[in-house]
Amino acid sequence: MTFMDHLGSVASEVEALLDRLLTPPAAIVDGEAVLWDAMRYATLGGGKRLRAFLAVESAGMFDLDRECALRAGASVECLHAYSLVHDDLPAMDDDDLRRGKPTTHKAFDEAIAILAGDALQTMAFEILSDPATHKDGAVRADLCRGLAHAAGGVGMVGGQMIDIAAETADDPFNLPTITRLQALKTGALIRFSAEAGGILAQHDDARTSLAKYAQHLGLAFQIRDDLLDVEGDEDVTGKRLQKDAMAGKATFVSLLGLDGARKAAANEVDAANAALDVFGSKAKWLREAAKFAIDRVS
Ligand code: IPE
Ligand code: IPE
Ligand code: MG
Ligand code: MG
Ligand code: MG
Repeated sequence: MTFMDHLGSVASEVEALLDRLLTPPAAIVDGEAVLWDAMRYATLGGGKRLRAFLAVESAGMFDLDRECALRAGASVECLHAYSLVHDDLPAMDDDDLRRGKPTTHKAFDEAIAILAGDALQTMAFEILSDPATHKDGAVRADLCRGLAHAAGGVGMVGGQMIDIAAETADDPFNLPTITRLQALKTGALIRFSAEAGGILAQHDDARTSLAKYAQHLGLAFQIRDDLLDVEGDEDVTGKRLQKDAMAGKATFVSLLGLDGARKAAANEVDAANAALDVFGSKAKWLREAAKFAIDRVS
C-alpha cells in the first residue's frame, strides 16, 4: 500500500468518526442549527488529516484500541479546524478560500465563524475527556493537558501572536525568531498529535522520542507550507498563495531562499527519522509521514 493510499484510508475513518461526533443535538431550537452547519462545514470534507494520522499511527505502534486512537485523532482535527477558521478571519489573515471552498466566515458570517471555532475547540476537549477515549481518568487528564498546552499561549495561539506581530515589526524577524514562531504556531499541535500514542500507551520514553520526531517533522511541514506559499498551485492547495510576501512577513523562504529552505526541510526530516530509530520497523508509516511533509503539493 502506498503512503497516500494509507493516509486516505485513515482520513476516511477519522472523517466518519467526526461526522458522528458533529451530529447536532436532537433538541435544537430555531437559530441554533446554523452553528452546527458551520462546525460541520469547517471540519468535514477536506484536509489532509495529517495530525489525526500521526495520532493514529503513533498509537498503532502499541497494542491499543483503534477507536481510542481515532478519537484522539478526531480531537486534534477539531482543534486544528478551529485554528483555521479563526486564522482565516478578516482580523487575522483575511482569507476567502480554504480546502478548496469559501472560508467559514464567507460561507456563513464572521460571528458564526467565531462561534463555530469556539465550539470546535471545546469539542476537542470533550472528546478527549470522554471515557470512550481511555478508561483511565489520569490518561484522559494527561491528553487534555497536553492538548491545552499545545493549543494555548505557549503553543498555537502564542505562535499566531508572533505571526501577527511579524506583519508590523520594524525589521523582518531573524531565523531564531521565525523558528520559534513556527514551532509554536504549527509545531506544537503536530507534536501533541504524535505524542498522543505515547500518552495513550502510558509509555514515557516512547512519548519523548515521538515528541522529538514531531518537533522536527513540524518544522519541515511548516517550511513546506512557506515554500508552497511561493511556488504552489492554488487549485491544488485549495487556499490563497503569495500571502506571506504580500504581508511582508519573514519566512523560512525569505530568510534562506528556495534552495536553502528545501535543504533545511530535508535536514529536519532526517532528524525526525533519527528519533524513530528506537521503534524499528514499527515506525514505517511515521517515517513516510515525515517524507510526505516535504514532498506534499497541498
Ligand atoms: C494548514 O495546515 C495550516 C498550517 C499549519 C500550515 P494543513 O496543511 O495541515 O491543512 P489541512 O488540514 O490539510 O487543510
Ligand atoms: C496558520 O498558519 C496556522 C494556524 C495556527 C492555523 P498560516 O496562516 O500560515 O496557515 P495557512 O497558510 O493560512 O494555511
Ligand atoms: Mg496565519
Ligand atoms: Mg493563514
Ligand atoms: Mg501559510
